[in-house]
Amino acid sequence: MNVLVAGGAGYIGSHAVRQLLAAGHRVVVVDNLFRGHREAVPAEVPFQQIDLADTPALADVLARHAIDCVMHFAALTYVGESVEQPLWYYTNNTGGSISMLRAMAQSGVKRFVLSSTAAVYGEPVEIPITESCPCQPINPYGRSKQMVERILADQAAADPQFAAVALRYFNVAGAAPDGAIGEDHKPETHLIPAILQAALGRRERLTIFGDDYPTPDGTCIRDYIHVDDLCAAHLAAMEALRPGELQAYNLGIGRGYSVREVFRAAEQVTGRAIPVAMGPRRAGDPAVLFADSQKIQRELGWKPRYTDVVPIVETAWKWFQAHPDGY
Ligand code: UFG
Repeated sequence: MNVLVAGGAGYIGSHAVRQLLAAGHRVVVVDNLFRGHREAVPAEVPFQQIDLADTPALADVLARHAIDCVMHFAALTYVGESVEQPLWYYTNNTGGSISMLRAMAQSGVKRFVLSSTAAVYGEPVEIPITESCPCQPINPYGRSKQMVERILADQAAADPQFAAVALRYFNVAGAAPDGAIGEDHKPETHLIPAILQAALGRRERLTIFGDDYPTPDGTCIRDYIHVDDLCAAHLAAMEALRPGELQAYNLGIGRGYSVREVFRAAEQVTGRAIPVAMGPRRAGDPAVLFADSQKIQRELGWKPRYTDVVPIVETAWKWFQAHPDGY
């Protein structure tokens, strides 16, 4: 297929580009490079620096490259930032997706794969979280994505040829095993990169945000999924798109690790004593989040290859050692 990867210069999008190429698809990348990195996109892949707001430019790319499917990774992803600047999040994430969908409608492109998030569930009513759990996001980031899911459902109802899937990510981590591409966020707020930056002396220490949660060791529990497993699910979901429908799938490994457990895994992988301090809870962090991802396993035959956090941290460590300051 001819696939347009929006946000293909970002952390997850760049890993998806590699997998699409390896699977024989033709790939085109658009990215505004606000937080993406041009170096993350292979030189042979057609690249255009376009903002999602620019509907005519998107429509032009879609038509010119005879695109069959859009994979949409281009979004702002920080919960805290979304609370402080909600309009920016709704404009970019929700408005940007509408702009892409309008460009697709103009160009007759009918397939859409959305990066969604576990944040659409908010405080989970049950653990592990299934796709039928109520979506009650508790921050603008989660709401900005939930709105896109709803728009996709409406569009699929209105156009029997339109096919979409929303992939609800849990905690994406790790890097390409060859160390060529990886995570380079500025600012970096995610746990595994933060620990590894502390291991490299690039930050003073890791601060654990709260050890008084109702969990066995008092720290928050999350479901860490390797970025390559996550991208493999995108390819499987793209192949299985059904006209006139929006599907939703959770993407996690179905196993939770506490912050302390991840920290210990990182000490094991790096062989270093990593400076650590205890801090207060971070606002908006639920105590326990992990996925039930049986639905995608059952329906699409997807399975995570990384089912333990240690090898996930190993791939991240390889990247951070080779690129301590990012790209
Ligand atoms: N944490 C620390 N110290 C740090 C960074 C994180 O203790 O320096 C803890 C957090 O409190 C949390 C866990 O490590 O308990 C994981 O935090 P991340 O920031 O790595 O990831 P989140 O679980 O907050 O975020 C993920 C996705 C978001 C999504 C959210 C949904 O990255 O995009 O889940 O709840 F919105």
